[in-house]
Amino acid sequence: MENNLKFWFIQFFIVGVSLSLKAQLVSAEPKFPCYFIFGDSLVDNGNNNNLNTSAKVNYLPYGIDFPQGPTGRFTNGKNIADLIGELLGFENYIPPYAAARNQDVFTGVNYGSGAAGILDETGHQMCDLCCHIVLNKQLVNHRVMKSRLAALVGGEKFAKQYLSKCIYTIVMGSNDYLNNYYLPQFYSSSSLYTPEEFAAILIRQYSKQLTKLYKYGARKVAVLALGQLGCCPAEVASYGSIDSFCIETINNAAKLFNDKLKQLLDHFNYRFADANFIYTNTATDSYGNITNLSTPCCALSDTGRCLAGAITCNNRDEYMFWDGFHPTEAANLLSAKKAYSEMSPLFTNLIDAV
Ligand SMILES: *[C@@H]1O[C@H](CO)[C@@H](O)[C@H](O)[C@H]1NC(C)=O
Ligand SMILES: *[C@@H]1O[C@H](CO)[C@@H](O)[C@H](O)[C@H]1NC(C)=O
Ligand SMILES: *[C@@H]1O[C@H](CO)[C@@H](O)[C@H](O)[C@H]1NC(C)=O
Repeated sequence: MENNLKFWFIQFFIVGVSLSLKAQLVSAEPKFPCYFIFGDSLVDNGNNNNLNTSAKVNYLPYGIDFPQGPTGRFTNGKNIADLIGELLGFENYIPPYAAARNQDVFTGVNYGSGAAGILDETGHQMCDLCCHIVLNKQLVNHRVMKSRLAALVGGEKFAKQYLSKCIYTIVMGSNDYLNNYYLPQFYSSSSLYTPEEFAAILIRQYSKQLTKLYKYGARKVAVLALGQLGCCPAEVASYGSIDSFCIETINNAAKLFNDKLKQLLDHFNYRFADANFIYTNTATDSYGNITNLSTPCCALSDTGRCLAGAITCNNRDEYMFWDGFHPTEAANLLSAKKAYSEMSPLFTNLIDAV
């Protein structure tokens, strides 16, 4: 009891006071006190900038539509994590782990890293050793933040209670296909395993990683499914013929992964009754104002990313793809709105671990 009071007091003092100060300025309060983001280049907001990897984009035209210009986000403007954060009511962008201060743990941290995968070896053709932050390392970083939180709130137990109130999104797996299985010149996975077997290997590993996240206190987790990887312009350029629009073998492999992911999360919800893991498919039926579904908006280097200083299309809101792999902000907004609506079961208070 006494401990609980202490916890509530600390929480009120730190979060309550800062929120009520903000509440005088803006009326909407965030749905959650904190938002933690795990993932790859779809959510990276600068974690790779100081790493020795070619998977970084802190140069124009990346960020051309972002208020701060190039930040390391792999798109012209906001990425899907920024937009989900806005929809959840967060006033500020969740900072990258690389720049996070101790107190940022109260509102959340973004661990996302371009080229990262579920498997540690994924993406290693882009650098030497441990160049980007693979999911296993992102979880280590989260454990570090959890310890910092524990030091601030008076112990591991309080830290875990606090972390149970946060919302989590995780988007992983694209690179295990695009920068591993479908790069046979660098990786043997496609000669060793069928797509079915490879999806099973990924899901086994993902299961361990998500269990770890649960053990660190996460109770409200949206896990994003893979998109239509075979429709990325860079994949169509490598694998397609002139008039093919998408590579169906790659889309089918991603679908195998998604089907298994859905089963895994059903199992998690049964196994961890005090948690809610939401399978989140961001694919939409309508594309709003987006009419150009296949041509990237910038001139590409042979890595599939925009050339430094490349000229871009003017009507960026009408393009699905920004570069050879990544959506424009306009496409991210469609995905974020879909994700937000699929995440809505997390917005009820039925599951409250405290
Ligand atoms: C960065 O990686 C490249 C090869 O990927 C290597 O040649 C170079 O020595 C590395 N630089 C540092 C500072 O580690
Ligand atoms: C589509 O374009 C119209 C006209 O420019 C604009 O008013 C509307 O907000 C746009 N819709 C979306 C979803 O961006
Ligand atoms: C997409 O844009 C490219 C130029 O960037 C253009 O050549 C192509 O015709 C456009 N496609 C559609 C469907 O509008």
